[in-house]
Amino acid sequence: MIRLRVSVLATTLIAQVCAAQSVGWQADQVNTTMCQWVTPRAGVVRDTVYIDGGYLWWEPGLADGTYGTPVSDGNPLGLVYLLNFSLPFQTSQDFNQTSLFTNISKAANGGAANNIGPNYYDGTMFANDYEWFTYGGLLAMTDAFQPPPSDSVAAYEVYASGPPKRFEPGFILDSLPSGMTRYVTYGAGVSVPSENLGFYFGGLKSETGGEIYQYPANESLNADYLSPTLIELDMTIQQQEKWTNHTLPTTVPGRASAELVWLPVSEKGILVGIGGVINPSYATINQTNNATDDAASTRQSPLFMSTVSVYDIANQVWYEQETTGAPGALAQGCTVVASAEDSSSHNIYWYGGFDGIHPQGDFNDDVWVLSIPSFIWVKLSTGTAAHARAGHRCVKPYPDQMFVIGGYTSQAGLSLNCVEGGIIQVFNLSSGEWLDSYDPKVSSNYQVPDLVVSKIGGNGTGGATLSAPSPTGFASPNMTALLGSAYNSSKITNWYPYAAATPTSSGRPTVLPPPVHNKSGTPSYLAPVLAVILGLFFITLVILAILLWRRRRLLRMNRTTTGSEAATVDNRFWVTSWLRSTPADAKAPTMTTDETPVTVDEYGMPYVLPEAGGAQVHEMMGTFPPDKQVQT
Ligand SMILES: *[C@@H]1O[C@H](CO)[C@@H](O)[C@H](O)[C@H]1NC(C)=O
Ligand SMILES: *[C@@H]1O[C@H](CO)[C@@H](O)[C@H](O)[C@H]1NC(C)=O
Ligand SMILES: *[C@@H]1O[C@H](CO)[C@@H](O)[C@H](O)[C@H]1NC(C)=O
Ligand SMILES: *[C@@H]1O[C@H](CO)[C@@H](O)[C@H](O)[C@H]1NC(C)=O
Ligand SMILES: *[C@@H]1O[C@H](CO)[C@@H](O)[C@H](O)[C@H]1NC(C)=O
Ligand SMILES: *[C@@H]1O[C@H](CO)[C@@H](O)[C@H](O)[C@H]1NC(C)=O
Ligand SMILES: *[C@@H]1O[C@H](CO)[C@@H](O)[C@H](O)[C@H]1NC(C)=O
Ligand SMILES: *[C@@H]1O[C@H](CO)[C@@H](O)[C@H](O)[C@H]1NC(C)=O
Ligand SMILES: *[C@@H]1O[C@H](CO)[C@@H](O)[C@H](O)[C@H]1NC(C)=O
Ligand SMILES: *[C@@H]1O[C@H](CO)[C@@H](O)[C@H](O)[C@H]1NC(C)=O
Ligand SMILES: *[C@@H]1O[C@H](CO)[C@@H](O)[C@H](O)[C@H]1NC(C)=O
Ligand SMILES: *[C@@H]1O[C@H](CO)[C@@H](O)[C@H](O)[C@H]1NC(C)=O
Repeated sequence: MIRLRVSVLATTLIAQVCAAQSVGWQADQVNTTMCQWVTPRAGVVRDTVYIDGGYLWWEPGLADGTYGTPVSDGNPLGLVYLLNFSLPFQTSQDFNQTSLFTNISKAANGGAANNIGPNYYDGTMFANDYEWFTYGGLLAMTDAFQPPPSDSVAAYEVYASGPPKRFEPGFILDSLPSGMTRYVTYGAGVSVPSENLGFYFGGLKSETGGEIYQYPANESLNADYLSPTLIELDMTIQQQEKWTNHTLPTTVPGRASAELVWLPVSEKGILVGIGGVINPSYATINQTNNATDDAASTRQSPLFMSTVSVYDIANQVWYEQETTGAPGALAQGCTVVASAEDSSSHNIYWYGGFDGIHPQGDFNDDVWVLSIPSFIWVKLSTGTAAHARAGHRCVKPYPDQMFVIGGYTSQAGLSLNCVEGGIIQVFNLSSGEWLDSYDPKVSSNYQVPDLVVSKIGGNGTGGATLSAPSPTGFASPNMTALLGSAYNSSKITNWYPYAAATPTSSGRPTVLPPPVHNKSGTPSYLAPVLAVILGLFFITLVILAILLWRRRRLLRMNRTTTGSEAATVDNRFWVTSWLRSTPADAKAPTMTTDETPVTVDEYGMPYVLPEAGGAQVHEMMGTFPPDKQVQT
């Protein structure tokens, strides 16, 4: 049996000019800064946050001391960025936060990744302590590459778990079970490492549940119907992960761009769905709501803050719980959870976002806390419109600190403004203050903030006197036992404290061997390969990105590649390797394909021999026209 391995080598242009900015530098450019990162997906594996997809904008610093117009390139190299919690940094303008990020590429030798791992906008990343999976999101509609199949999901295995097996860290294209697709976006994702679970709540799909795009050619390819599903990923057994598509009960209304959090209570914990909107303007085909949709959103969306959806994971039961003191409608914010030392309260922090229907209005810069089990909202920090952002992600490196990563600013005015203070912001969850630096050597236990204590009783270490919403009580008598029973906290592995490291602009956090590996399953398939002319693609995307920013609908290209052999091919999974060494330089746009014999390993798993030891049947090298499909 034959497995096709693809390595698309970089063009001279890209290979020589990309230095921490994957887009080509301008002639008079002297430096670059991450400016905005619009709805990436992120997940934490142990000591590192992995950030994939979204639209990353870079601000070029020019030789004359000025800054050029920010640029974005659609990430043709398929870079996934890594931020290691061991790196200290500051959130001042003088500190180069951009240099903190390392990257791994979905493409071999730093080449183009679009055939293999194209860049998704939105969607989610499910992570446990060993691996991460991406799910959902939108692809740009372009004829530069063929979209992956409807059941395709990309994953990255970092560490081995479970029984001994042949394992190499690396990137994997896995497939969803029959009846499930990747065609959902703007859902609310959460990872539960201690249960090896991930969930994606609600979001939007197309009318038919078929393929969806960012800025689609027509309404039938647009995701603007509420998806009444909870998608579950069980990562308990590595390489035998299980996907489940649960239909939400009618009592739990669908919504877009909400947040989902996990709280450590009872047997497997509970999920809480918070915020979101029903008719986000960014999900309409022309990026503009009509008055009817705006009015419906204005009426419905605040209810997602004042009544939250609670899911008992172990019993698969939903509850709709009223809260008190809720902020108004917010979507595209971020959340983290901090529990009092004695678990008498679990405090959900919500930062930023906007109402989902006024992208040119002020965004939100406040930090709100929803304390549970009292279900009381407390406004912990009041921000400024200039510092506000939406479409960012939050992670919690230490019990008392939250990182805000990425995001975009209000689209008021004509120019794109970078997020104020840097692409990473740090918040002290105990004091409710923004910090101007992060140091892996500095952390404390979480203290319930005084403002929250004043509402729920007790003190910083817990002892909350409110154990139920008052005066309304719980939505169901079941919830008293659910929220009152403790989670087995020894299931939770903490990876802090992190050894302090010095940032190096070129260094990578770990040396990953160049693997060729695979998952279980039928390896028999033939995969089509599209070569890409990188230069053309790059120019197209830069123009595209600028135009998209002006909220114009423009990509109406007909995809010339549909109806190819791809559709008939059993594309169950597609393994590529992270070839991290040997950067391609001074090479013309070139694509090589290797046919590598597949053998069976000691566990009966089909296995592709590594490059060095593998007997290559042949190697083709050549330059192909952009839409030429190579089949072996
Ligand atoms: C990605 O990592 C490589 C190797 O460390 C580095 O040379 C390149 O500048 C990085 N690219 C970006 C866009 O950060
Ligand atoms: C920050 O560092 C990166 C690489 O480490 C560099 O490419 C970039 O130009 C620097 N940005 C600034 C503003 O100095
Ligand atoms: C980056 O370039 C800008 C514009 O020339 C300059 O003002 C700024 O000081 C540079 N940053 C660094 C860290 O060199
Ligand atoms: C979930 O299942 C429903 C009902 O079978 C189906 O209509 C929907 O497309 C599925 N959703 C996804 C994202 O696979
Ligand atoms: C929408 O666009 C797709 C792709 O261009 C095309 O196949 C489909 O027929 C179009 N649908 C309508 C209703 O125009
Ligand atoms: C408003 O837009 C929605 C689709 O976004 C459409 O279904 C509805 O008919 C429109 N209403 C009016 C009054 O134009
Ligand atoms: C955008 O779509 C809405 C609803 O579909 C429609 O009411 C509005 O006229 C459209 N605006 C433009 C500029 O096409
Ligand atoms: C956060 O605030 C608390 C309470 O003021 C303080 O004890 C703790 O040291 C702070 N943490 C950091 C990292 O600054
Ligand atoms: C908080 O209250 C508990 C008991 O109510 C007490 O033991 C503890 O010392 C208090 N902690 C602080 C920091 O006051
Ligand atoms: C209470 O929980 C049980 C399962 O634990 C469930 O069957 C029942 O529907 C729940 N009751 C309510 C009112 O949700
Ligand atoms: C709690 O979890 C740990 C680790 O999984 C396990 O060893 C232990 O038996 C569990 N305790 C209870 C009471 O279930
Ligand atoms: C993060 O940095 C620490 C300290 O340099 C290092 O030991 C660790 O391996 C890094 N993590 C990853 C995933 O590279």
